[in-house]
Amino acid sequence: MARLAVLIVAAGKGERAGTELPKQYEPLAGQPMLRRTVRAFDGLPVQVVIGPGQEELAARALAGLDLPRPVPGGATRQESVRRGLDALANDPPDFVLIHDAARPLISRKTINDVVAALEAGADGALPMVAAADTLRRRGDDGRWTIVPRENLYRAQTPQGFVYAKIAAAHHAHAAQDVTDDVALAELAGLKVEMVEGEEKNIKVTRKEDFALAQSLIGAGDVRTATGYDVHKFTDGDHIWLCGLKVPHSHGLEGHSDADVGLHAITDALLGCIGEGDIGQHFPPTDERWRGAASWKFLDHAAALVRDKGGVINHVDVTLICERPKVGPHRDAMKARVAEILKIDVSRVSVKATTTEGLGFTGRREGIAAQAIATVKL
Ligand code: CTP
Ligand code: MG
Repeated sequence: MARLAVLIVAAGKGERAGTELPKQYEPLAGQPMLRRTVRAFDGLPVQVVIGPGQEELAARALAGLDLPRPVPGGATRQESVRRGLDALANDPPDFVLIHDAARPLISRKTINDVVAALEAGADGALPMVAAADTLRRRGDDGRWTIVPRENLYRAQTPQGFVYAKIAAAHHAHAAQDVTDDVALAELAGLKVEMVEGEEKNIKVTRKEDFALAQSLIGAGDVRTATGYDVHKFTDGDHIWLCGLKVPHSHGLEGHSDADVGLHAITDALLGCIGEGDIGQHFPPTDERWRGAASWKFLDHAAALVRDKGGVINHVDVTLICERPKVGPHRDAMKARVAEILKIDVSRVSVKATTTEGLGFTGRREGIAAQAIATVKL
């Protein structure tokens, strides 16, 4: 098996995008663009090249990924690539894929096709897409002419090469300005082949490209699940409801603090990630949980969601009881749930209803709660 390395160049300033941070560090569908790009190569050894002063941004964007320390790039893309190639020289791979951090939508298929072309013997390979629009060129005199689009292609990355050959080409032609690595390879007389690229492998260049990339990424893996819980009234002078201590003519019976609202939300979150139910994580037979504060259960479920890379989009709970009245506590309950889940309060909803005197809730024998959660994985 040939040894492969991936060089991701992320040392640009992103001037055309004009975003707050250099574009490669801007969030794209919840993750820094650079992180998405690096993750597209999961399982392959990746070396990232970053700009001067971007060390902290890069560390944050790449936190938790198993990568060597990013190496500093240069004033031009070409220079950044050359420095990245130099960083690989100690332990040179057979093949190197050179990819723009600004192309986060690169697919496994394109990566594999480029590698396959190298394995078949090409010195270099790049993905290209045929020009589909009619192309027009404006002459110096201001007149437009149509450029026949037959045989016109757009070059993308990753561009793959035999490492030793592209490294030599970069050093031999460092003085010539080129826009990509294939151009350099061709100056050096290397044999470069094209593979079929994909339209969606856009280079995020202008601000509006973020919205386009976002829509191409799509909604992702969105999960919803419900939770339901009931606790019985008993003697007492307060109950715990959605994380708040609410004065009441009765208490609620339970092994923990019997907070039905938090229990229902906890089960809904566990349901979104297929992690069983609250009883499985906190068995009522376990003395550790006697009288436990239920926010701990909810906090645990939220941590499990985060561990799986999930983001809580929304939780909604309906409390079903004749008394106590929920309305006066609603805002405080929402704030408390949001605080436990570490999400914005706008993503939390607390509702209540009576059952018109019908059933066990109508007879004031207990409180029921049902919840629904939406999680994006
Ligand atoms: N790049 C680099 N070093 C440079 C310039 C660019 O590593 N000196 C990287 C960019 O970070 C990007 C890729 O090369 O991932 C393609 O460049 P481009 O899309 O032009 O990005 P920027 O140069 O950052 O953007 P702009 O030209 O708008 O400033
Ligand atoms: Mg540039």
